Amino acid sequence: MDRIDNDFLPINGTDYVEFYVGNARQAAHYYQAAFGFQPLAYAGLETGLKDRTSFVVAQDKIRFVFTSSLIPDSPIAEHVRQHGDGVKVIALWVDDARKSYEETTKRGAKSYLESQVFTDKSGEVVVSGIHIYGETVHLFVERKNYDGIFLPGFIKWEPHYRPASTGLKYVDHMVGNVGWGEMNTWVDFYAKVMGFSQLISFDDKDISTEYTALMSKVMANSNMRIKFPINEPAAGKKKSQIEEYLDFYRGPGVQHIAMSTDHIVKTVTALRDRGVEFLQVPETYYQTLADRIGKIDEKIGPLEDLGILVDRDEDGYLLQIFSRPVEDRPTLFFEIIQRKGAKSFGKGNFKALFEAIELEQSKRGTL
Ligand code: FE2
Repeated sequence: MDRIDNDFLPINGTDYVEFYVGNARQAAHYYQAAFGFQPLAYAGLETGLKDRTSFVVAQDKIRFVFTSSLIPDSPIAEHVRQHGDGVKVIALWVDDARKSYEETTKRGAKSYLESQVFTDKSGEVVVSGIHIYGETVHLFVERKNYDGIFLPGFIKWEPHYRPASTGLKYVDHMVGNVGWGEMNTWVDFYAKVMGFSQLISFDDKDISTEYTALMSKVMANSNMRIKFPINEPAAGKKKSQIEEYLDFYRGPGVQHIAMSTDHIVKTVTALRDRGVEFLQVPETYYQTLADRIGKIDEKIGPLEDLGILVDRDEDGYLLQIFSRPVEDRPTLFFEIIQRKGAKSFGKGNFKALFEAIELEQSKRGTL
């Protein structure tokens, strides 16, 4: 993709992802125990907050924040009532949060948070924010004058319990599900308001199985560190997985977060041992794998045992696997991905994968 000249919204990377949940303490424990996140920071009653509590965990460059309400009537409590546990904030790491806010709001973004400066003894952080699809928001986080543990107001969280990492390194991409006919609205939003470009060669047409269908386009920022595929449902014989999501999440929201690893077999073995449940594709997927993708470094046996999928594009190949939804509602799930040159998103796996998802949907009675 051509680099955009005069990039009006330079982004260094994903700063953090914040989930609004029913019980932040227990959610943080799950991500420690199952996914190998390390405790990082805490804010709550002990730090002077009266209405909410947040636990921050980290693994290499990935930071997750779990926030829950301590009172019945608050935006956090209402968010959880409506959506169940889910992603509220996709925070983007920028060098200038004020400019990020001005450039995006003047291009039509709806304001969520005017630029605000937060300070403590470790320095200052400037934060601003805009609304995106559903009730999800982007925060722009400028932390160049800050060397504290996370953000002002947070203290170090140092519990005894520290299960080992599972080798997850950074957020590769985050996918949004939007409503019928809204994909292009959000593609335009990311293009016009945020200066993103569409990765033209992938997924840009109907994806369908015998029963269900969806459409997807991928938007990326100029340095490609931020990649947001946007899905909308498409008409099929039965209810698509995107519609199921929209029904249970009660609107658009983040569908999955893809996290990268350098050793997918090791990572997925550890995750599975620690209780993360993955979708299984039919055995037949592996019988024809070598013919479809050619030579790869990995042995097929362990990939088949774990259910890891492989796809190839003109730049190389990738290995990927998808978890079952990690909430009670069939909403958010995770992807584990290892890229060996490939820059795409596993289009060759969509059919096998969606058939596996439909099997799960039929068990839930939502196909
Ligand atoms: Fe993905």
